[in-house]
Amino acid sequence: MLEDKVLQEDWLVACRSEDVKEKPIQVVLMGERLAIFRNSKGVHAFKDLCIHRGAALSLGEVKNDCLVCPYHAWEYGDNGDCVKIPQLPEGKPIPKKAKATSYSCMEKYGFIWVNLAGNQPDIFPYPEMDGTEFHNVIWGPQEVQAKPPRIIENFLDVGHLAVVHEGYLGAETHREIENYKVNYEDGRIYSDEIAIFQPDPDGSGQAKYVYYTYEILRPFTVRFTKRDREKDTLMTIMLTVRPVDEETSIAYGILSFNYETGLSDEEIIAFQDEIFSQDKPIVQNQKPEELPLDLQVELSLVSDRVSIAYRQYLKELGVVLGTA
Ligand code: FES
Ligand code: CO
Repeated sequence: MLEDKVLQEDWLVACRSEDVKEKPIQVVLMGERLAIFRNSKGVHAFKDLCIHRGAALSLGEVKNDCLVCPYHAWEYGDNGDCVKIPQLPEGKPIPKKAKATSYSCMEKYGFIWVNLAGNQPDIFPYPEMDGTEFHNVIWGPQEVQAKPPRIIENFLDVGHLAVVHEGYLGAETHREIENYKVNYEDGRIYSDEIAIFQPDPDGSGQAKYVYYTYEILRPFTVRFTKRDREKDTLMTIMLTVRPVDEETSIAYGILSFNYETGLSDEEIIAFQDEIFSQDKPIVQNQKPEELPLDLQVELSLVSDRVSIAYRQYLKELGVVLGTA
């Protein structure tokens, strides 16, 4: 498992809820292979390793709420204890060591989250999913050959919108970023509303300013809300990233709208995929791969305040993975 105590003790996204049906699946998280499965009690995450002969439990099946190893059919209950060994003569006790390593696992916001330290901390709030006011669309997986902090920082980067996403999320004529603050309040870290001039933010063909508020939720989970002041509508995108191993990350998100977009979920996802495909070559080729947390490294502008706040946040928390 990749060393990073802060991340091991956090809820990290493993996959989408819809990825875990009746068959167990293998998910690599922080270099650790996990078998994730669903039974009548919910979702569960084990180390993907059978103590008998090292088979991958994710190749097995779920039977009577147990995860059954594909090799010799040992059966593991959802707390990891082995409850049946078919090769043992009747009446022989199951060895105490016959256990699978189980991690904390929960399902929330359309995703499966795993805590590798076995803790159950509170998960970040995402009020857009609490009521019925917002239409929510699950986005991802999107594999990226980059470390999570570079991907997250790109999402928090205001200055690139009118360059990388010129014609989509910004205009070449409006690259200047007005002054704004980052607020620290009640444990929240969020920016003021930042005016961004967009060619067609609401699909009417009319260019205008919309207002972005960025917020840092967790080391690898952030969000922004875009507000249309004329129509008084909100769109939020939450981005969360799974560190797979040293090279690979997988991005997921939730796109939330409190208005009728006139688009199908597939069209919403396709648009987000296109935006992300514009960011990907940038992020995959940034050097150093590790996000520099020393603010003397690289050259920040005032408009980079959200990124700076993110770097300071990671530094204060002591996040190591993907940072330098
Ligand atoms: Fe799992 Fe033998 S390797 S039961
Ligand atoms: Co971008």
